[in-house]
Amino acid sequence: MNQIQIFSAPNAAAVGKIAAEMIVAAVNAKRDAVLGLATGSTPLPLYGELVKAYRAGEVSFRGIRTVNLDEYVGLSETHEQSYRYFMNENLFKQIDIDLSNTFVPNGTAADSAAACDAYEARIEALGGIDLQLLGIGLNGHIGFNEPADTFSKRTHVVELTESTREANKRFFASIDNVPTQAITMGIGTIFAAKKLVLVCTGEKKAEILKRSLTGDVDPRVPASILQFHPDVTVFADEAALKLI
Ligand code: F6R
Repeated sequence: MNQIQIFSAPNAAAVGKIAAEMIVAAVNAKRDAVLGLATGSTPLPLYGELVKAYRAGEVSFRGIRTVNLDEYVGLSETHEQSYRYFMNENLFKQIDIDLSNTFVPNGTAADSAAACDAYEARIEALGGIDLQLLGIGLNGHIGFNEPADTFSKRTHVVELTESTREANKRFFASIDNVPTQAITMGIGTIFAAKKLVLVCTGEKKAEILKRSLTGDVDPRVPASILQFHPDVTVFADEAALKLI
């Protein structure tokens, strides 16, 4: 089992700050790095800090390439709940990244399976992921890799579980508007990244964080695969870490 580095901070804002320091250092060390990015509430303070660091002249994203973990099937990039829209608004438009170097799975492709293969080919053409940022779902999902009997391998289409749709309905008019499918990098895709950085905040995540980092490595807790990766850093607040 590999040693997972865990950094604790008092609250979500402070988690964003210390996680951003690591990302800024990674970008400054490799100007054309490939960053794997995540959406959701947890990385928002971190993205805010990256924007601040850019505005303060501490970092430039001009040569950086990004690949996002996932996208809802059926939502176009102008849909306010699409992950492409989220990334454009919360990060890309506010920094000096070249938008043509940012990639998110195509949720509106006529052939979703072909879009998944194209996404894998894209990641390979970029030379693989240097640093993959992750959040964690209440059921232990990473990306949209839901609990399953086996670990998924590569980018694929998933049926979202009711618990995930329920957790995400806060962003939609009602649960009926939450898409039922998504395209997600597979566990194998995520695992192939050189470095994994998990951000996790809030007491609600304490139980699943504990199971993921200290329980059995089991596809029914997808994030537990992190225990086998050689380079994992976790940034979490005290509430999320209270059981560890
Ligand atoms: C989003 C993603 C998801 C989220 C997870 C936690 O791109 O891959 O796995 O990281 O659902 O979401 P929040 O941060 O909203 O609790």
